[in-house]
Amino acid sequence: MVLASQAVAEDSIVPARLLGEDIILWRHNGEIHAWKDYCLHRGARLSLGWVKDGCVVCPYHGWEYNANGDCRRYPAHPKTKPTGRAAAYRHHATERYGYIWVCMGTPVADVPPFPVWDDTSYRKVKAGPYHYSANALRAVENFLDAAHFPFVHANLNGNPDAPDELADYDVLLTDEGLKTGEIAVFQPYGDHRGIPVTARYEYHCFRPTTAYFNKKTGEVERFCTLLAVTPVDLETCVVHLTVAINFGWELSVEQILERQDRVFEQDRLIVESQRPKPLPLNPKEEMHLRSDLLGVEYRRWIRALAGEGPMPMRASTLDSGAPRATIESVPAS
Ligand code: FES
Repeated sequence: MVLASQAVAEDSIVPARLLGEDIILWRHNGEIHAWKDYCLHRGARLSLGWVKDGCVVCPYHGWEYNANGDCRRYPAHPKTKPTGRAAAYRHHATERYGYIWVCMGTPVADVPPFPVWDDTSYRKVKAGPYHYSANALRAVENFLDAAHFPFVHANLNGNPDAPDELADYDVLLTDEGLKTGEIAVFQPYGDHRGIPVTARYEYHCFRPTTAYFNKKTGEVERFCTLLAVTPVDLETCVVHLTVAINFGWELSVEQILERQDRVFEQDRLIVESQRPKPLPLNPKEEMHLRSDLLGVEYRRWIRALAGEGPMPMRASTLDSGAPRATIESVPAS
């Protein structure tokens, strides 16, 4: 995920950076396009150009690229038909949930799910973007970590003087990434209305940079959050959030955003402090407790996606009675 849809207006070009590459996002007839920010004639940035008649015009010599990326005109030789080689470098781009999703290779999966996106009993509020000088996987792992609540979000999402002992939980591999069982935590300000709650979190990690939680604060009250992180480069990322709430209709958008802004600023300071900057994927590089099981499985899953190890345990395997994933170095008490 790269940008909010509303950031790219009709017939405008917006520069962005993804995985260390400069790209442009541009829109015509409502359709979004993502290209490398590069004109192969003399290497000028297309982001300095403009949109004319459904084409991106390079700012240097005026080559015009149509929506398919094909150059249709050399202004210095208007009678010469451009060759097929004269084309922009296109990436896959699509829009969903009010965001622009870009794939720089061949997509192997659809855009991640947002389980309650179409459920009108949930109010959706967009928060961020939050700019971190940190690795995207570090930011996602922090989102998936319930043990930091009492300290990083003291007296908001946890009590630092009486932190919760986290019960063991399951982490399972599904067709849409990793999923946990419920993780219960006491939150002094858990429901946005100043009422203490014991919240039960179910975490999903749909893609390495897209995660989600379903937080239950009562029998029917749900506070869900989709987190989509743009990996700008190895040491920079942008965090985008959409919260979905089926209660608290009296809360203003400003009240909801104030809390999100506060929480993610607290997160930012910690995540930016972590060393090394990249998330260590070798399990021997840091020390893991049982409460870190999701982080450990997250790392294992990323290694497996890169072809460097076995996948975490699938739900179907667990259902068959196979042994559960554990962190062997920390025995259960
Ligand atoms: Fe783009 Fe020359 S560099 S037209």
